Amino acid sequence: MHTAQAGIFALGTSSHVYLEFDVVDEKRYKDFAAAVAAIREPRTTTGGVNFVIGFRPELSQKMMPEDTPAGIEGFNKNIAGVDGFVMPATQHDALVWMSGSAYDVVFDMARTVIQDLAGKATLQDETSSWSYRHDRDLTGFIDGSENPTLLEAPTDVLLPDGVPGAAGSVLLLQKWKHRTAEWEALPVAKQELVMGRTKAESIELEQKPEDSHVARTDQDRFGNIFRRNTPYGNVDDHGTVFVGFSAEQQRLRKMLESMAGLVDGTRDALTRYTQPLTGAYYFVPSVESLRELRPNRQGSG
Ligand code: HEM
Repeated sequence: MHTAQAGIFALGTSSHVYLEFDVVDEKRYKDFAAAVAAIREPRTTTGGVNFVIGFRPELSQKMMPEDTPAGIEGFNKNIAGVDGFVMPATQHDALVWMSGSAYDVVFDMARTVIQDLAGKATLQDETSSWSYRHDRDLTGFIDGSENPTLLEAPTDVLLPDGVPGAAGSVLLLQKWKHRTAEWEALPVAKQELVMGRTKAESIELEQKPEDSHVARTDQDRFGNIFRRNTPYGNVDDHGTVFVGFSAEQQRLRKMLESMAGLVDGTRDALTRYTQPLTGAYYFVPSVESLRELRPNRQGSG
């Protein structure tokens, strides 16, 4: 029996930081792995920090060949959609996502992590994010309505026991900048057609357009995922950090292709008002797999 990283399911936190690293010397990946496995989170209750640690799938394969599912790949190529729309590939080697009740604890912990990994991995991208009006993203819509419940989500997002990577999950991390002025120039009824849900209550429209976001990502078609999206940015320049977990990479990949118009030529209307700036996949191993990376369990090299 393996245990998932608890941060995947730690809902209700209002401060987040996503740190993406590249290893300094891939030949010495065991040193890096040992440093990651040695990260110590604060043990206090109210001041605690939740962690989700993930690795570029190809690096995970190298670091923990027995504990990584076969066939998963990094976001290694841009996705070129219809009408010149592009989702850029900005894959890094590792992700450390920390979340907590307030930014100070997350901030202090993030600095410690960067120091702990110094010399082994360099910080390539840092995004901090926060919650907006309880459960809305910066389009003003409620985000997460169709998420599986916490009772169902583990089945949807974790690899089952008995397979390589058991209790691990595939994570898609993508930063989307919003074109807020264009979005806000749309009447609410038009915004609702773009999303496929009502704005105030998040009720699914009976007649949703083919190009609406929820039609493009319909989980009845592509399979269930678990989303932990958060708003990022400042007043002038902001958007959504898309954070999606799945037991199968294919579900996430197909949703992106569908949004880009590559499944049937119809591009997601939401992509006319939002622009992906980054895109990376990480394999989030079980806590037992992370523990195995400690140097007393394997030689460092
Ligand atoms: C700017 C970026 C994005 C924003 C602001 C956004 C926002 C939303 C909102 C407001 C909903 C409707 C309520 C809900 O069920 O949560 C939704 C649904 C959904 N989104 Fe997104 N989303 C974004 C990107 C993505 C991406 C990149 C994916 C997939 C890779 C995705 C997958 C989904 C799924 C699976 C649903 C539920 C569909 C269903 O009804 O079965 N979203 N999103």
